[in-house]
Amino acid sequence: MTADELKKQAAARALELVRPGMKLGLGTGSTAKHFVDLLGARVVAGLDVICVATSEATQAQALSLNIPMSTLDDTPELDLTIDGADETDPQLRLIKGGGAALLREKIVAAASARMIVIADDGKLVERLGRFPLPIEVVPFGLEATRRAVAEAVGAAGAAGELILRRDAAGAPVVTDGGHLLLDAHLGAIARPELLAQALNAVPGVVEHGLFIGLASGAILAGPGGLKLLGAIE
Ligand code: 5RP
Repeated sequence: MTADELKKQAAARALELVRPGMKLGLGTGSTAKHFVDLLGARVVAGLDVICVATSEATQAQALSLNIPMSTLDDTPELDLTIDGADETDPQLRLIKGGGAALLREKIVAAASARMIVIADDGKLVERLGRFPLPIEVVPFGLEATRRAVAEAVGAAGAAGELILRRDAAGAPVVTDGGHLLLDAHLGAIARPELLAQALNAVPGVVEHGLFIGLASGAILAGPGGLKLLGAIE
């Protein structure tokens, strides 16, 4: 079975959590895209939900499927957010932002009573950090911010290159919020909470991809079946 088929299985299991009348957060990325596709089919069949997207890409996909969309201004409290992740550890601490949507993803997750992660089981790691940690920064003062981020990373007991994310044409990737991304190649993050605190304190850092205390459960699909972490129902 391919990784994409596994992602679709996880998405299909998450769809079982959706009830009529729910206010949903819709994640970003290839796994969340499967969920939105499946949700769209249910909406066509009469399911009544209202949704908030975590990116312009997901917003466009959902609208193309006639999923009723709202904003956090009009719908500031959500019942459930379904989103992918780049890594999760067994305690449901996540790295997110591989798809450049971490800022809106974190805001939407924080506005949700529950966030459930959907992924193939290759995303489950004992220790976070093999996937480069995305750090969203404002363009102003980029080099000064990069140095301050390096210091904060070191103070939290981690180390590694900070690489400005670029697209295939070599241009810096600009997020939906108009910011840039530094990908921190840390290898292993011994103390994610400490690193999250240190990054939060750096002027110029808008947000980072460590999601701690936000996910209540995870649906991980592997060749041997689904593995559930945390509270799913
Ligand atoms: C986007 C994200 C995605 O959830 C993460 O990158 C996983 O993506 P995929 O489902 O394509 O593996 O955080 O910012």
